[in-house]
Amino acid sequence: MSKIIVTSALPYVNSTPHLGNFVGSVLPADVYSNYLRMRGDDFIFICGSDMHGTALEVRALRDKTDPKVLATQLHETAKSLFLKFGCNFTYYGSTHTEQNKEITDQIFNALYKNKYITETQHELPYCNTDKIFLADRFIEGKCPKCGYESARGDQCDKCQNLLDPKDLIEPHCTICGKKNIVFKKTKNLALDLEKLQPKLEKFFEQTSKNEWSKNAINETKKYFKEGLRPRDISRNTKWGFPVPLTGFEDQVFYVWFDAPIGYIGITKEWNAPKWESYWKAKDTTIVQFMGKDNIVFHSILFPGMLLGSDLGYTLVHTLKSYEFLNWEGKKFSKSRGIGMDMAEAISVVKDPDYWRFALMLTAPENADADFTTEGFVESVNKIMNGKIGNLLQRVLTLINTNKEIFDSTAKVDMAVSDKLDDLVKKYTNFFEKVELREALKTVVEITDVGNSLISEKEPWLIAKTAQSLNDPTSAKEFSVIMNTLLKISYTVGILIFPFVPNASARALKYFGIEKTPTLALLSKAPKLAPKLEPKPIFEKLTDEQIKKIKSYS
Ligand code: 2FM
Ligand code: ZN
Repeated sequence: MSKIIVTSALPYVNSTPHLGNFVGSVLPADVYSNYLRMRGDDFIFICGSDMHGTALEVRALRDKTDPKVLATQLHETAKSLFLKFGCNFTYYGSTHTEQNKEITDQIFNALYKNKYITETQHELPYCNTDKIFLADRFIEGKCPKCGYESARGDQCDKCQNLLDPKDLIEPHCTICGKKNIVFKKTKNLALDLEKLQPKLEKFFEQTSKNEWSKNAINETKKYFKEGLRPRDISRNTKWGFPVPLTGFEDQVFYVWFDAPIGYIGITKEWNAPKWESYWKAKDTTIVQFMGKDNIVFHSILFPGMLLGSDLGYTLVHTLKSYEFLNWEGKKFSKSRGIGMDMAEAISVVKDPDYWRFALMLTAPENADADFTTEGFVESVNKIMNGKIGNLLQRVLTLINTNKEIFDSTAKVDMAVSDKLDDLVKKYTNFFEKVELREALKTVVEITDVGNSLISEKEPWLIAKTAQSLNDPTSAKEFSVIMNTLLKISYTVGILIFPFVPNASARALKYFGIEKTPTLALLSKAPKLAPKLEPKPIFEKLTDEQIKKIKSYS
């Protein structure tokens, strides 16, 4: 069986991921992995913390703590949060490991040997107080384009324009806060993307025929059209892996260089004997999930590194890049109190399934999307509870209260069953195309078929006739309807698994299934577990919870 690697962009450790971050990468990767789990594939789901970000380094310098200690602490917090949200990683590792360092050095050395590393000259800001070079976030000042006071050395967070530190008006050092800055000449190492462009374009032409997101295709084409330029892979700071080249020992690799290699490093951290059988097999399929701000790293830089190193690593097959989720029409912002981070969300609504379901239903799969409290209430109260939970509850209760006339060996309604089969096909097709939100909508559609059947046939009236008149024809009719409804409920219980694994387990318990469901179960007739009292698998949100969520607007 050929292997599949699923990855989610490795979250930086400097801040708690918000719900927009979660739905933009880790959650869809987890949902997709769960689908592969149901399909019975040989796959691994790899994620972990991106430890070497500049924001982390700035924070450690400011707090006068060791960046490694701080990053490790934050890594543990992030990991436990993802687990609380029901994520089922094969392994959640980090980029700051021996394994990742070893592979980073190996890829760098190969790129160097193959002449894809070049030198660049820069004049970089240097803080004369702290005696260090000030990369990206280490320097802030007024944005020359929009006047925003806290623009960073590489980009203005307000107008999004890319900046050169030299453009900043009245810049200051973000470590000591002083304006004691001079510009010094320095030499850095860069990946020669210009030289790699022909190889990269050829690779892109082939691989982007797979299920790539539109935004990824467009952005990558735009880069090619503008012409690739060498991009620095080393920087003059302290936190990161030291560059293993004479003359550059005092520099570290740029975070973007060792972060994507982290996917490989983390796999090795997970399983030293097995990692190569995934990363170096020609027929491995790599499916990568990320937010749109990470496209270029996965469509150009990482493939460029792997192609240039020529070490036999497998390259991306499917690239899924999500747009952004806004909160009540605004950008998430910790400082302005807009939007919930994952820790806040799980402290208000404790079952992760509620977040997973609602977020996937509004996932920014093809365009930016908006999270609203009303939308969340609607997803939980009306859809999860009112449609899915209610269907199962009604079906089980109807059978429970009419046990004497229910014949579990009766047939199912063929017309409804055919419709159900079509919808299951629609669901799996969406998963094959990695359109996860549409797959979830299809589950809701299946539930609608069940609920409509109940309102249309009114089986409780048929049961009443069967009971009071002791009428075998009505009893048979009742049994056919209920068996059809059982099949629908059972199918829904299986198909919700990738999205809401806890609720799926609660539902499937009624059918005596205690293990992870498989797609193969769909072709088996459902059998009810004996003596189980029907209980709701979802609950409605309380007014208090709703009020709390609203307060983040
Ligand atoms: O945006 C981020 O959070 C980055 N740390 C993602 C890196 S993805 C990959 F390159 F590791
Ligand atoms: Zn300073």
